Amino acid sequence: MSETRILGGSEDDLRVAAEELRQGGVVAIPTETVYGLAAQGLDPAAVARIYHAKERPLFDPLILHLPPSWQSDLWSHGLVNQRALSRRGIEHVTELTRTFWPGPLTIVLPKTTLVPDITTSGLDTVAVRIPRHPLTSRLLDMLGFPLAAPSANRFGRISPTSAGDVVEELGGRIPYVLDGGLCDIGLESTVVRISGEGEVELLRPGQVTAGELSRAIGQEVLELDSGSSSEGAQISPGLLESHYAPRKPLVLFEKRAADDLDTIKAEDAPAILFLSDRTLQDFVEAVDAESMAGTGIRHWRVLSSSGDPGVAGRNLFHMLRELDAAGGSVIMAELPPDNTGISHAIRNRLERAAS
Ligand code: TXA
Ligand code: MG
Repeated sequence: MSETRILGGSEDDLRVAAEELRQGGVVAIPTETVYGLAAQGLDPAAVARIYHAKERPLFDPLILHLPPSWQSDLWSHGLVNQRALSRRGIEHVTELTRTFWPGPLTIVLPKTTLVPDITTSGLDTVAVRIPRHPLTSRLLDMLGFPLAAPSANRFGRISPTSAGDVVEELGGRIPYVLDGGLCDIGLESTVVRISGEGEVELLRPGQVTAGELSRAIGQEVLELDSGSSSEGAQISPGLLESHYAPRKPLVLFEKRAADDLDTIKAEDAPAILFLSDRTLQDFVEAVDAESMAGTGIRHWRVLSSSGDPGVAGRNLFHMLRELDAAGGSVIMAELPPDNTGISHAIRNRLERAAS
């Protein structure tokens, strides 16, 4: 394929993107979480082009992104098998979609035969969400059909949070990227599964936390340890893989470990990702170029100078990508000390990126 063209937000540009998608092509689209590689989600040939461009294995199912107007009548579009859900399950869907859509929550539900097997990797469930990005909302409005869209990176690599990142990953392999600026959240959506009986399980942590979900439905949300169970492998195949990986080896460290500094110095010219200015200053006396040079640390980033987890989440993938491109043979990243809220999602991504 020839060069990838970047489209802006004009009506003309949106029409070009829409036409490509109507014809069964792929277009990278912005969302509030990360950029997605989209195709008509109910057309098997179009969906196959996503797998091909990403070099993604067919066992890893995709999320369907629905037009904004579907929020109020999800059932009437016939993708979700309402009869396979108990009354409690249906109530949970209503509550979750009302509270968190449009937004970074993906819900896995029983599917109908309208959804092709290639979209769901043959599972009898389908993952759906209504994203919250003005350009993509307009695009979905114009199209009136769901867009299957995984993150717009080559399989296993760091998710893209800007149009430039998408070009770095898929340039020359896809015709268009719709440029919607930097992603607001920077981490993929929270994924939950609602079982027929109405149990709700967290499959992937994200900005929407288990606590918020539990409060919305008045029932505890169970956290599935998909990384270690064979049950996890069946429920959410893609979540088991090593993922989000930079090209260089990634080593994680915890601020409070006494020998951290020695570990860091032992690594050969590491590029380091710190959580905040405060944690950086635990390792160096002053953050000027000269003092940094004295430590042997030549390349570093700080996820959020004030230690704000939301800002850290927004910067995580972007900064990992920058450090991957910088000098040094290894990246070291500091793990958040707590495992709550967005820090939980950040830990999850870092651990998988390092594995
Ligand atoms: O924020 C996001 O979710 C982004 C943007 C583009 O919307 N998309 C995204 O897609 O992260 P992807 O494909 O990189 O990750 C979706 C994960 C898959 O790896 C898969 O494991 C899980 O969601 N998933 C999809 N369909 C599923 C299903 N039917 N059952 C269980 N898990 C499913
Ligand atoms: Mg992905």
